[in-house]
Amino acid sequence: MSLSIVVTGALGQLGSEIRELASQYPYHFVFTDRDELDVTTPKQVKEFFVQHRFRWCINCASYTAVDKAESEREQAFSVNAESVRNLVAACCEVDAQLLHVSTDFVFDGMKSSPYTEDDETHALSVYGASKLAGEGEALKYPKSFIVRTAWLYSSFGKNFVKTILRLASERKEIGVIFEQVGTPTYARDLARALLAMIAYSEAHSYTLSDLYGLYHYSNEGVASWYDFAQAIVDAAGSLCLIKPIEVKDYPTPARRPFYSVLNKGKIKKTFDISIPHWRKSLEECMKLLLRG
Ligand SMILES: NC(=O)c1ccc[n+]([C@@H]2O[C@H](COP(=O)([O-])OP(=O)(O)OC[C@H]3O[C@@H](n4cnc5c(N)ncnc54)[C@H](OP(=O)(O)O)[C@@H]3O)[C@@H](O)[C@H]2O)c1
Repeated sequence: MSLSIVVTGALGQLGSEIRELASQYPYHFVFTDRDELDVTTPKQVKEFFVQHRFRWCINCASYTAVDKAESEREQAFSVNAESVRNLVAACCEVDAQLLHVSTDFVFDGMKSSPYTEDDETHALSVYGASKLAGEGEALKYPKSFIVRTAWLYSSFGKNFVKTILRLASERKEIGVIFEQVGTPTYARDLARALLAMIAYSEAHSYTLSDLYGLYHYSNEGVASWYDFAQAIVDAAGSLCLIKPIEVKDYPTPARRPFYSVLNKGKIKKTFDISIPHWRKSLEECMKLLLRG
């Protein structure tokens, strides 16, 4: 019988990308979203895991509405932190590995060189704090992998790329913040990396205990939101003007880090992964989006 993997939150950007790649892997995937498996319900989660005897759980379920989280603290912590505790308990029951996804928003952005897994965390927002609490839950389980990522986009779901494309078709000019710097990350590349981590771990199962822990993954390179928006309109052949603006000109309920570039050295070395530059990956995604 092939190795069985449950993907939670599978209708989101990352979950959808894993589904796109699934047929290339010799695993049995069970894709679930809120309707089939609400991760906030401990009893349902445990029963589901016991019924299917999963070997891996890829947790893509998340409360990702960063600004809304400021006024929905309880919901954000319920999905992003308490649910991880539920998944840990269920993984423990069937001896599964947990592959949990977190965010660059666990950092305050005060550094000026890429964040490593050993850097101190300090979340600026409720969303960031809830994801940090989720990491804490995952870290209590010795068989967990936590992958922090950043600025995700995809041809699936809602994201910055789609918002800019829509606004560029409606307006002559868009103001975009140039002060916040990070790395746009194609969710398909992240999906490939997560599946590569599983493949590597299965092939080196005798060293699994050395592999567990925290990792950073984003595309290569650095950009501001302004640079990212400019690259999107360029790729779309749009003449819309992208105007650089300051954070103070675009106030949002949640504070975001000014600098959240991630150092990917550990994940690349441990799992022998090569990572594409964000501009190359954006081109790949834009081809899909423009094809409709
Ligand atoms: N998006 C980014 O820019 C970004 C940046 C850094 C890190 N990340 C992290 O990357 C991971 C994947 O993000 P994403 O962009 O793919 O998120 P997404 O598109 O928002 O998908 C999250 C999925 O989780 C589902 N979900 C929410 N509550 C649930 C529950 N109680 N039970 C089961 N499923 C539930 C959502 O369903 P509903 O739509 O019905 O709520 C949605 O389908 C998350 O851990 C996120 O924190 C994302």
